[in-house]
Amino acid sequence: MMELVNIKVPAEQVSFREAVLTGLGREQGLYFPRHFAALPDVQGLLDLEFVPRSAAILQHLTEGEIAPGTMQGMVASAFNFPVKTPRIGSPGNRTVTALELFHGPSLAFKDFGARFMARCLAEFHDGGPMTVLTATSGDTGAAVAHAYFGQPGVEVVVLYPKGRISPLQEKLFCALGGNVRTVAVEADFDTCQRLVKQAFDDPGLKQTLGLNSANSINIARLLAQVCYYFEAAAQVDAVDQLVFSVPSGNFGNVTAGLIARAIGLPYRRIIAATNANDTVPRFFASGQWNPRTTVATITNAMDVSLPNNFPRVLELATRHGLDLNSVLRSVALEDEDTRAAMRALQQRGYLADPHSALAWSALEQSLRDDEEGVFLCTAHPAKFSEVIEETLGIEVSLPPELEAVRDKEILSSTIPGDFLALKTFLLE
Ligand SMILES: Cc1ncc(COP(=O)(O)O)c(C=O)c1O
Repeated sequence: MMELVNIKVPAEQVSFREAVLTGLGREQGLYFPRHFAALPDVQGLLDLEFVPRSAAILQHLTEGEIAPGTMQGMVASAFNFPVKTPRIGSPGNRTVTALELFHGPSLAFKDFGARFMARCLAEFHDGGPMTVLTATSGDTGAAVAHAYFGQPGVEVVVLYPKGRISPLQEKLFCALGGNVRTVAVEADFDTCQRLVKQAFDDPGLKQTLGLNSANSINIARLLAQVCYYFEAAAQVDAVDQLVFSVPSGNFGNVTAGLIARAIGLPYRRIIAATNANDTVPRFFASGQWNPRTTVATITNAMDVSLPNNFPRVLELATRHGLDLNSVLRSVALEDEDTRAAMRALQQRGYLADPHSALAWSALEQSLRDDEEGVFLCTAHPAKFSEVIEETLGIEVSLPPELEAVRDKEILSSTIPGDFLALKTFLLE
């Protein structure tokens, strides 16, 4: 059985099942594995196809809590879309690899975590009522809504800040209906997140509805994300020369990359690239944790100054002995760097969303001749068509997923940003 400890209250220890069902530990502490066992045969795993390899990795990480055949089925249905790895040319004939993680139903990397977590909940759920309540600033809502859409016995409620997500992002998850209810809150994202926390602090509500959260603190989401680092290594040879560059906000994706390393993927190093919300790069430079007020950037999904997964990164160093100094580097880029990267990529024949372009830029700045670069592409460019049109002067054609929802009716309810309104809505 997998053993996880609450980072804040180490006396609290839970299994994978408990960690998935509760999400967050006492005193809002994050759960994290007590130890990481090394994979017995990394090369053998890299020789496998994506789904069987991912099932084996998740089987290893969860230490037998889910039977192998069941895990295989869960992974096959969760990861039912491709990871693509086009090569991008650079001056001097060097190429780097774009690890495209956005070919799932919500066109963002979050589909991996949200879909795997949905299958874990379905596996562990004891049959009582269950309401998955989550707040989104745009991308998570769509991934979660699609992951649970049509799942019997599960109600999904997604809160989002009214008028502050892109129209296409809204269409992707607010037109589904069925077991997915969406709520436009007349307030900002922080208020949506606070309302969700308040709902969890209301024991009556929690019990009546069987509340569960699907945000990135849930360990199931992180473990699922470990799998695509192995896919990159399988598709690009020379694993020991690999350098990953990850566009980072809440630092979940980087944590997953570091877990991959902790269980034995021998890549060389990983770059956590942030935008102007640079709490972590400043922390590594000065040793001071000094978050500032969040500023709005063109990589809005990374506008986070209090990255909620960062304690897990530190745990990897303190408890698991990972030498962060040699493996991880964190850099911050300005919007102008990101726009320049989008233009440079366009010249190389590649259309990248701003988040992915930022990661490419961080990679280009530091890649050495004896290294193989991979940058994580976290969202489909069409999701950020406004920034692309304004930066590159081109219209982005919509992929079928967005074309299909473009003219759909928004089914959301609107509520003011107060808890009583949410409670009334939830109990209706
Ligand atoms: C498109 C995109 N890129 C990057 C990120 C940052 O990922 P993480 O929060 O895991 O650091 C997000 C997260 O919201 C995102 O939606």
